[in-house]
Amino acid sequence: MIDNQPAFVKHDELIKFVKETAELCTPSKIHWCDGTKQEYDSLCNLLVDAGTFTKLNQERWPNSFACNSDPSDVARVEDKTFICSRRKEDAGPTNNWVDPKEMKRKMKELLKGSMKGRTLYVIPFCMGPLGSPLSKIGVQITDSAYVVVNMHIMTRVGEKVLKMVGDDGEFVKCIHTLGAPLESDQTDVKWPCNPNVKYIVHYPDDRAIVSYGSGYGGNALLGKKCFALRIASVMAKEEGWLAEHMLILGVEDPKGRKTYVAAAFPSACGKTNFSMLIPPSEMKGWKVTTIGDDIAWIKPGKDGKLYAINPEYGYFGVAPGTNKATNPNAIEALSKNSIFTNVGITPDGDVWWEGLTDKVPEKIYNWRGELHDHSSGNPVAHPNARFTAPSYQCPSIDPESENPHGVPISAFIFGGRRTTTIPLIYQAFNWNFGVYLAATMGSETTAAAFGETGKVRRDPFAMLPFCGYHMADYFNHWLQLGRTIPNPPRIFSVNWFRKNKDGKYLWPGYGENMRMLKWIVERIYGEVVSVESPIGWVPQYEDIDWGTLDFSHEQFEEVMDIDREAWKNEILTHEELFCRMYDKLPKEFFFMRELLLSSLWRSTEHTLAPETH
Ligand code: GTP
Ligand code: SPV
Ligand code: MN
Repeated sequence: MIDNQPAFVKHDELIKFVKETAELCTPSKIHWCDGTKQEYDSLCNLLVDAGTFTKLNQERWPNSFACNSDPSDVARVEDKTFICSRRKEDAGPTNNWVDPKEMKRKMKELLKGSMKGRTLYVIPFCMGPLGSPLSKIGVQITDSAYVVVNMHIMTRVGEKVLKMVGDDGEFVKCIHTLGAPLESDQTDVKWPCNPNVKYIVHYPDDRAIVSYGSGYGGNALLGKKCFALRIASVMAKEEGWLAEHMLILGVEDPKGRKTYVAAAFPSACGKTNFSMLIPPSEMKGWKVTTIGDDIAWIKPGKDGKLYAINPEYGYFGVAPGTNKATNPNAIEALSKNSIFTNVGITPDGDVWWEGLTDKVPEKIYNWRGELHDHSSGNPVAHPNARFTAPSYQCPSIDPESENPHGVPISAFIFGGRRTTTIPLIYQAFNWNFGVYLAATMGSETTAAAFGETGKVRRDPFAMLPFCGYHMADYFNHWLQLGRTIPNPPRIFSVNWFRKNKDGKYLWPGYGENMRMLKWIVERIYGEVVSVESPIGWVPQYEDIDWGTLDFSHEQFEEVMDIDREAWKNEILTHEELFCRMYDKLPKEFFFMRELLLSSLWRSTEHTLAPETH
């Protein structure tokens, strides 16, 4: 069998890993990825020849490609995602669990012959800047060329990483197969996958991942959710750091000060947008720079501050809604050397998605590859259509994004998609209240991931689908961190998505979010006052820099309203999540719940008994 294993590879465990996987999956050849541009280009050409990729108009979209996935393979599959820790209680009540011995038997059966007729690619990749003490290495085996080229953009790949692992370095073992073996007389389909069987399996004790049947996004690019969140969160718990579903951004202010914050919003709730925010033009001297848009690895430094890196190297961003007005930085980042999955493609090699421009192109093929029928009411792009773009192409990239030591985090921001109840912004009273607010965060489900829309789902820390261990242990880990560092970051809640009775957003969002970010920065340095509310500190109307934004006192009252009855109900619904993890829930949470209830309970109308003389 052709096998281009580089001569310098002497790592016995790695060689054994590749050999044993190949013996089980029986590919027709083995290709060790070197991470070069030639490799990238030749695999893209191969994908064009296979009909997977459409080469886009090179003038409009230099070196870029688009493709449509199989309709059964358009998003992460949470119900097929497993955390197979040795003990069920280590996975906790919010993860699917199967005994690892049983799962390994099952996966072995599935993997047998699964790469027949295909190439087995070996991708050595590094999560985090090369040589950073915070970085970690993985080796992904895959039979998908689409995955290889996406990994080239999303992570640091190739020989330089293999050399870093050396002869005995640690690495996370990642196996991925499309689960679509090819018989010799069979012609391949454009998007091979297994339409019926999908498994995304994590073995935290072995630091290993096996993914079967899907070629899409987080199911298949194993460095992302599987490694950088699910496996890394377990490593982080054991080693005293954090692996989070957070963007990281820097704020430059007119004083020339630089402040870094990290923010957790659930999937498709605006992390990419916020991380690349462009302030309103009148906010002179304020600038946002981007470190990462999806994942943060955060570690306490010797000085007691928390330092964060972005383990990724590219963006796998939601395309619909992205345009020159909502996110010009993303538009620039994806303008070349990018891959588009499940967007619309025109016959002359242009791409389009809902919201890119006002007008749907006259003639365009939708994400299913059919000619779009303008009268159908169907979208052109899938709601979870994505672009894969190199982060160094983003104009707002922070100069410190490759700093091996990371950037110091001064605040954490949490926010979901909530039509009612949650005010635009508030600050937690202290670290413990902040951990409680993050743990009880909720978000309304979007069509992108879950079909049904509008239902509030509790998504603690935006980590519900991504925490590789017991969620209550995770809460305790956060509380414990607050006890061990002298001055933990301030914690804020935001909600860009509150609506009025007519269903209209109360807050303009996007660039205007800078006005809230400014308040956050000023709170960090104690430069602006706040007032006490039952749930936390809130700004007064006068404390927000409104500039030219036409936003009245009444509008502010409405978007900031804390409705005591609605909040009492909100707190009752926290119970639903907590009941599931009663045995391990931090005792602080019970007290904080009671404290919140007692401050909300205070009656606003004091009724006096009629005086009797
Ligand atoms: P994942 O990559 O899935 O983790 O998601 P993400 O959090 O990076 O989501 P993204 O930034 O791609 O958010 C996409 C959706 O949020 C789009 O529908 C945007 O239009 C919407 N969005 C982003 N920012 C705002 C905002 O400030 N206000 C409103 N109303 N919508 C926003
Ligand atoms: C998410 O779903 O939060 C994503 C996209 O960032 S994926 O990588 O597909 O998980
Ligand atoms: Mn994400």
